[in-house]
Amino acid sequence: MAIMRTHLCFSTWSLQLLLTLASPAFRAEQYPGYEVRQVLQEAGDFVRAAQEALGRRTEALQSPDEPSRPSVPHRFSSNITFMSGDLGFPSQGSGLFAQDADQKAMRVETMRPFDLVEGWVTNMTTLTLANASYDVTGGSLPVCRQLAMLRVQRFSDLFSWAANPLLSEYGGQHQVDGRQCSLWHLHAQNQSMTLCASGDFPVELNMSIFLKSSTGGRKFNTTYRFGPLNLGSEVPQFLFSKPSICGSLAPACENGRGLEPVQMDAYVFHPGLSAADYNLEDQNVADLAGDALFICMDRLRSQTTSFIDHNYSLISRYTLQVSPAFGQYGLCNGYPDTQPPGPFCAGGDPRLVGKERPGFVGDGEGRCAATSPIGFWLGLPKAGHCPPGQSPTKDAWVGGCTWSVQKRIKTIQQTCLLKDHDYLKFCKADFVEKRGFPRSMAALEAAFASEDPSKGGCKDVGGPHDQSESTFIV
Ligand SMILES: *[C@@H]1O[C@H](CO)[C@@H](O)[C@H](O)[C@H]1NC(C)=O
Ligand SMILES: *[C@@H]1O[C@H](CO)[C@@H](O)[C@H](O)[C@H]1NC(C)=O
Ligand SMILES: *[C@@H]1O[C@H](CO)[C@@H](O)[C@H](O)[C@H]1NC(C)=O
Ligand SMILES: *[C@@H]1O[C@H](CO)[C@@H](O)[C@H](O)[C@H]1NC(C)=O
Ligand SMILES: *[C@@H]1O[C@H](CO)[C@@H](O)[C@H](O)[C@H]1NC(C)=O
Ligand SMILES: *[C@@H]1O[C@H](CO)[C@@H](O)[C@H](O)[C@H]1NC(C)=O
Ligand SMILES: *[C@@H]1O[C@H](CO)[C@@H](O)[C@H](O)[C@H]1NC(C)=O
Repeated sequence: MAIMRTHLCFSTWSLQLLLTLASPAFRAEQYPGYEVRQVLQEAGDFVRAAQEALGRRTEALQSPDEPSRPSVPHRFSSNITFMSGDLGFPSQGSGLFAQDADQKAMRVETMRPFDLVEGWVTNMTTLTLANASYDVTGGSLPVCRQLAMLRVQRFSDLFSWAANPLLSEYGGQHQVDGRQCSLWHLHAQNQSMTLCASGDFPVELNMSIFLKSSTGGRKFNTTYRFGPLNLGSEVPQFLFSKPSICGSLAPACENGRGLEPVQMDAYVFHPGLSAADYNLEDQNVADLAGDALFICMDRLRSQTTSFIDHNYSLISRYTLQVSPAFGQYGLCNGYPDTQPPGPFCAGGDPRLVGKERPGFVGDGEGRCAATSPIGFWLGLPKAGHCPPGQSPTKDAWVGGCTWSVQKRIKTIQQTCLLKDHDYLKFCKADFVEKRGFPRSMAALEAAFASEDPSKGGCKDVGGPHDQSESTFIV
């Protein structure tokens, strides 16, 4: 849940990426198509920078034995298989790649197995049209987000560099799944791309892209393998059209309209620098399963990258009243006293409580679903916060406030769960089985259930009484 997204540092990647980025911190790690979005954009910048540097280059990288260079069709589509490590572990899936370089349009559809639970898939389409980008998730109940703040969005032709002997080098003959192809390399300090092409047709595109973060950064490797190509007019134009749903937010869940608010427990991982860090407005929270999963994903990733930001030191459990007329989930990040300051939300309903299955998994992202083996993540927009003493009404789907805090139940140090009770051990065991997070959930629940270390309990470190109080007690 937001929790960690809000609290751990890898998030800072996105904003470190480009200083030109006008938006506040955006923690892209809660974003399922991380490489589809970030790596493609970064790779595009890389190719563009290489091309712009051409004027300064005098020496061709041409070798005498090289075959003729691939001139990849401007307009084509192809089924793909892809491999990526953007979730911290290798994942594979199938999809479709289409581009029309003359229209500055690129579409990447990926069916991404959510490896934590067998059979769950995130269906994600990323469409770049000149300098606008749309991400469609949710499968047969699609949701569209234009997350312009993630990056400066611009179309780049990811193949044209291979035709240019000033940019790229021949790397010999290769076999990819039994297909013979010529390999072409494009290198820069921290980035590299290879294209293996059969004649003018792409067979395999590898991108090894370094994404910077405040604590260093990490390399993301992504591979696309192409099937037979459709060319020119065989490529339907609708692939390059902005989907009609992209102009609007997903509607309030029909099954929650006209209903009284429901009471639910919500967990959040947050900093403890001041009382402001207990404010849930414009934050993401999660139910027990959703938070257990979030902490696991986060920890399993940060293990190798040590991106933990120690400003995010606490985990709190609240009882909330929320209107079940859920709206589109927004991705929220930051607190007033963290760097860069937040909170800041994107892609969600400004008033309705947002809801999704972690990673946008399943039809409609699970916004209106009652159950989920991996729990739910929720967004609590500031404009939906009920005034003190009030709760949402049955009409919350139409107007008025949509959520209220009944009580902060307990706040613990994250180190109690993660270190003292060795949380990662439970995550790893759950990961192996791919049947949800029973052990991790039990450990998180136990941390809040008692203060007895022998029962997995953690001490209540306290906090402000309610959101509006300025006294901060630790
Ligand atoms: C691409 O994949 C789809 C289904 O995933 C299939 O129906 C179609 O025939 C494939 N196209 C080619 C050219 O292989
Ligand atoms: C796209 O970029 C062009 C040129 O930089 C600019 O004029 C235009 O306003 C941009 N459009 C959008 C939607 O940002
Ligand atoms: C993926 O979602 C899109 C809508 O965004 C839908 O058209 C497509 O059929 C879905 N693909 C699969 C394999 O479910
Ligand atoms: C290149 O990577 C190193 C770490 O491997 C990093 O310190 C450096 O800042 C990176 N340079 C750029 C331009 O991203
Ligand atoms: C591209 O990446 C894939 C997956 O990591 C790897 O198997 C393949 O050898 C790479 N291709 C090249 C030319 O490095
Ligand atoms: C990523 O790709 C680079 C360049 O191809 C390679 O050197 C590196 O070993 C790869 N890393 C992983 C984790 O596959
Ligand atoms: C917050 O985290 C940053 C980055 O890790 C660190 O430099 C800073 O000292 C922290 N602030 C506090 C008050 O702990």
